[in-house]
Amino acid sequence: MTSTPTQDETATDLLPAVPADAPALAQLEAVGVTAWFGQRKVLDRVSLTMPAGGITALIGPSGCGKSTFLRILNRMHELVPSAALAGEVLLDGEDIYDPERRLIDARRAIGMVFQKPNPFPAMSIRENVLAGLKLTGTKASRSERDALVESCLTRAGLWTEVRDRLDAPGGGLSGGQQQRLCIARSLAVKPRVLLMDEPCSALDPTSTRVIEETMVELAREVTIVIVTHNMQQAARVSDTCAFFLAAHGTPGVIVEHGRTDAMFGSPQDERTSDYVNGRFG
Ligand SMILES: Nc1ncnc2c1ncn2[C@@H]1O[C@H](COP(=O)(O)OP(=O)(O)OP(=O)(O)O)[C@@H](O)[C@H]1O
Ligand SMILES: [Mg+2]
Repeated sequence: MTSTPTQDETATDLLPAVPADAPALAQLEAVGVTAWFGQRKVLDRVSLTMPAGGITALIGPSGCGKSTFLRILNRMHELVPSAALAGEVLLDGEDIYDPERRLIDARRAIGMVFQKPNPFPAMSIRENVLAGLKLTGTKASRSERDALVESCLTRAGLWTEVRDRLDAPGGGLSGGQQQRLCIARSLAVKPRVLLMDEPCSALDPTSTRVIEETMVELAREVTIVIVTHNMQQAARVSDTCAFFLAAHGTPGVIVEHGRTDAMFGSPQDERTSDYVNGRFG
């Protein structure tokens, strides 16, 4: 019996293929994470499961610890001299802070895209995509590099816009294109998780939309965690959501987390309801 493809199947056929050598989807889990800057505790026993192949949105008012939590998820928090940390971060059940594990492995497996697009401005588009390979000491032939550049730019939704100017400087792209270039650069080292800290806050609505579509497609191959102040964006792209709050100078905690549709449709906590409906923050 033959059947006509549903609209969903047809749409899926048009998406760029997930690379055959893509690593398996990974779950990220924070267990009892507490963070300090000097004497000041900024997160208190935060636990959260970020499901494999899903998009988890972290929301909450300014200063409640979202970026700190995100940086803890790929060992960037420890770069701050006064920073301290307790708790565990498990990537598929293995603690990335285990002293036996190398820092570089955690950073490679768990990539980060920042609020302000930060390509290397003088480097070409091609070199920008490949920059991570040098840092991680990955060797690749010219043809492998060409294939990787095309695949990463395609998956970041930028290939058709830059295919004929790969040797032009990355700094010559628009803000939205630069952000997609940074996504392509992150993908080149084959991360299992992509962390994004307000990746669209400096972008216009059209670029924002393109990045959101890119995220939804990427979630088929990498677990995504995004911090956003844009409630519509959280509702549009994320599967699960966590609401952070730091009340009156106390450390940040997660007030409520769960499926995004439930968090927005029928929040259990009044503070979540007030926040997602724009009544504070
Ligand atoms: N490098 C640092 N040194 C000292 N304190 C810091 C540092 N970075 C952040 N903090 C403090 O930690 C707390 C949490 O900050 P964080 O940047 O994680 O908040 P956030 O939720 O990301 O806020 P926003 O929405 O404004 O980006 C804040 O009180 C902040 O002042
Ligand atoms: Mg922040």
